[in-house]
Amino acid sequence: MQNASFLKAVLSKPASKTVQAEVGTRIDVRPVLIKQQTSYQFTHRIGTQERHENFTINSAAERILELVGGVFRDLSVHTTTEQLTVRFSRKGVGTTTRRTLTQADKKSAAKPVVKSHDKQRQYLIPDGTPVPFLIQTGIMSKQGHVVAKHYKKFRQINRYVEFIKDVVDQLPDDQHLHVVDFGCGKSYLTFATHYLLTQTMNRSVTMVGLDRRADVVSTCNQIVKELALQDITFEATDIADYKPSSKVNIAVSLHACDTATDDAIAVAVQWQADAILAVPCCQHELAALLPPSQLPVISEHGILHERFSSLATDAIRANLLENVGYNTRVMEFIDTEHTPKNLLIRGIRRTSSQRDSPDRQYWRHFKAFSKQLALPPLRLQKKLEEYGLLTAEQAENE
Ligand SMILES: C[S@@+](CC[C@H](N)C(=O)[O-])C[C@H]1O[C@@H](n2cnc3c(N)ncnc32)[C@H](O)[C@@H]1O
Repeated sequence: MQNASFLKAVLSKPASKTVQAEVGTRIDVRPVLIKQQTSYQFTHRIGTQERHENFTINSAAERILELVGGVFRDLSVHTTTEQLTVRFSRKGVGTTTRRTLTQADKKSAAKPVVKSHDKQRQYLIPDGTPVPFLIQTGIMSKQGHVVAKHYKKFRQINRYVEFIKDVVDQLPDDQHLHVVDFGCGKSYLTFATHYLLTQTMNRSVTMVGLDRRADVVSTCNQIVKELALQDITFEATDIADYKPSSKVNIAVSLHACDTATDDAIAVAVQWQADAILAVPCCQHELAALLPPSQLPVISEHGILHERFSSLATDAIRANLLENVGYNTRVMEFIDTEHTPKNLLIRGIRRTSSQRDSPDRQYWRHFKAFSKQLALPPLRLQKKLEEYGLLTAEQAENE
């Protein structure tokens, strides 16, 4: 692609429905001017949405070579003098045709326009820069490009690290950060957090990923070894059994199953963690306890009963966090198109002076809500009571 004559390239004919849904039905590549430099912008068309990525000329060429054939079957490249078309059959056999533009074509062809486009979305973990854990997990190529079929995961990771950065920005900026990830599983997000904190934010950290599954823990420790990562370890343990070696600043629980989220929140509150981030997963506790007669308009439909129970559980979790000294927000974690498990409960521990004059309205609201639904105590409440963090005294103060 010569800068002077390149007009555009189009990748089309996605090789599968997955490509269509995650990478797009087509990608248009065109030169754009960003900060006075020519970049090559890839516009992915996914349903009614567009997603943009920018590359240098060499990376753009590499990216096109990665995508053509296996991901998109057709490529056309338009320059001011000719049009090149490459078509791949299902069997992966490519046919190239080249057409020199006539004078008439040239007259009607667009001039090579380099559009100024400085407002691109910048990911905290960018596409185009090799990130060892993403290469190791197959999300990026060795050259640092996100593998097309993993783009969804890549965006999720970036969305997630934005939440982490937002929390870290609210904590003292000179402090060593001890981060515990409960139910870390394959740990994409644990490694992403470690990368963000150590490489992007240049912070000193101790990170621990916990999971009761010894096999996933062993795989994660193997990755740590292979990548020679510092200050990150994984331990096979149940959430409730882990004893941290020092003060925990950030406690994370992502998609931990059912009431494991409650166990993680309760333990983190007990440790007085500065920040708690919880993305709940499947929730069955309240659905089983909520008498259908209590809210028949909802409960006569199974799916509504389930969803209402999940929402009510998360509302109670957020409320209880407020009750035990955390400023709490419930936010959309990632787009609902990716997963229905998309609520993030974020608690930031109030300062000691704020904690000295707690806002009693949260407890009143909690009691009223529990009464309305005729609820027995749920797991988080029971755990907080067991740890002496929610006391009868609190109720008496009403
Ligand atoms: C759905 S995976 C989520 C993995 C990862 N956090 C993520 O979001 O990609 C849930 C993980 O939580 C772990 N888990 C569930 N309950 C747990 C408990 N009580 N103690 C430790 N790990 C638990 C499971 O073994 C599983 O690996």
